[in-house]
Amino acid sequence: MEFFELLEARHSVRRFRAEPVPEKLVTKILEAVRTAPTAGNFQSYEIYVVSGAERMQALAAATFNHEWVAQAPMALVVCTNSARCEYDNKDYWALQDASIAATLAHLAIADLGLASCWLGAFIPAKIAGLLAATEGHVPMAVMPFGYANEIPEQSTRRTLEEFVHRRE
Ligand SMILES: Cc1cc2nc3c(=O)[nH]c(=O)nc-3n(C[C@H](O)[C@H](O)[C@H](O)COP(=O)(O)O)c2cc1C
Repeated sequence: MEFFELLEARHSVRRFRAEPVPEKLVTKILEAVRTAPTAGNFQSYEIYVVSGAERMQALAAATFNHEWVAQAPMALVVCTNSARCEYDNKDYWALQDASIAATLAHLAIADLGLASCWLGAFIPAKIAGLLAATEGHVPMAVMPFGYANEIPEQSTRRTLEEFVHRRE
């Protein structure tokens, strides 16, 4: 999809069909993440690929019972890994790295005809526990994804005048 068309087409989706996502597409999403810009090229993020009904159910329970999470066939859990960063204020950089990684995953998912929703409402330690995540991998975003089973709502945005502040 052309980039600006993709931006128009992307919406958060919270209803999914049970149909599994082909592994080839999962790899494409992860390859898109690899291209993300990253502070100092330290790539201070980690991705957990979650699937299986039981694990998805556990994920849903750890996200303040967002019940739709369990409907998705898969999820990415994007974590920070500050230890990879060699700059001071490691958490500051790692959070930005993980954010852009999650953004590219979200866009790649949409470009491949799939759908997802970025989910930030969870207790990181709970998610890390159910994933048996390596120490220092701190969940930043949970992103259930799959084939959409809803026509998502069109969200609104502030106008440019409301958020652009020019200085000459
Ligand atoms: C950092 C972040 C955290 C979010 N957390 C949640 C969440 O916990 N639950 C949820 O249903 N949606 C969550 N969303 C999705 C937003 O609600 C959604 O992006 C916003 O309403 C705009 O809709 P759109 O993505 O369809 O344009 C989150 C999005 C971002 C970027």
